[in-house]
Amino acid sequence: MMNIDSLLKQIETGDFHNPLTNLQDQDLRDEIMRVTAGAVADDEKSCSEFHHYLAILNKHRLSLSVARSPQTDLLLNSICTFMEIEWLNRERQRISPLLSGMPDDEESFIQWFEQLQQNGPGQHHPLFDYLAEQATREELRYFLLQEMGTEAGFDDLISLTQFKTPPSVKLELARNYWDEMGGGELEGMHSELLSRLVSSFQLSWEDYYEDVHWAPLALSNLMIAFAMKRAYFSQSIGALGIIELTAPERCLRVMEGMKRVKLRDDEYKYYALHSLLDQEHWAGWKMNVMQPLIREYPERMVKMAEGALLRLFAGARCFKVYCNHLRLQFDSYSDLLHIH
Ligand SMILES: [Fe+2]
Ligand SMILES: [Fe+2]
Repeated sequence: MMNIDSLLKQIETGDFHNPLTNLQDQDLRDEIMRVTAGAVADDEKSCSEFHHYLAILNKHRLSLSVARSPQTDLLLNSICTFMEIEWLNRERQRISPLLSGMPDDEESFIQWFEQLQQNGPGQHHPLFDYLAEQATREELRYFLLQEMGTEAGFDDLISLTQFKTPPSVKLELARNYWDEMGGGELEGMHSELLSRLVSSFQLSWEDYYEDVHWAPLALSNLMIAFAMKRAYFSQSIGALGIIELTAPERCLRVMEGMKRVKLRDDEYKYYALHSLLDQEHWAGWKMNVMQPLIREYPERMVKMAEGALLRLFAGARCFKVYCNHLRLQFDSYSDLLHIH
């Protein structure tokens, strides 16, 4: 009879073979390893290939294909997991200096976390003043196209993350999810509001990957990597929380830009709504999600902080790419880890 205890122990502590061995074709395995190694080494071309591949693989991994076999699920999960772990280890190294000053008691930690709204990577970025005050309609269209690349679906990220959370935490996540669902009205669903805006700019969700830079795709790949793994549960909570905390300011500026180029209020409602609603969402997230989870296991603080910083860092990288494309020179932002 199998000894389940020793099996579970091995699973918890085991160092597994490379998950890519599930993929039979040696050339494809080599190709994935080559691109992954290149991305980890910050080679620009490899980063682009890596994040485009991973975004497309994630799309298949999460799609509701009727022809799907369980073996396909296993293979997709193996390949994506290999890529995610290798890349995330590199990203974690990048932000680790920012974790050094993090307090380890709950109250000070929450203050530290909220302070990221002021001094975290990419905060108060002048790109958003430009979008609000000067950008042309065409430039706002470019911005929106790239932002579509970052879109992993907040609603789905919540539903993937909330599994097995304590009842009171789950309730707050459910309230947040219900807001994402437009309170039960199709027209008010946040994904529908975004799609409406996307069509106003004559953009489409079909095959937009090619025109999107790898940096926005890295952001959605990050959020999916967190939400798809129980090992990164706390990172997912931190990353989703920092979105609620920091989105209102940016959304307000984008909304102002869209209003200025004469979009109708029903077209830019996605940004108008998030400029207000996410303030409430953050208050609920802090009190009913983060605090109780920290009280349960204080070790979660450092993981939440890591998730939040990785998410902010991925956002800051996008802002830099957008500024380069728009030929905006904000010198003080040349260093991605710049804290001002
Ligand atoms: Fe939303
Ligand atoms: Fe929200």
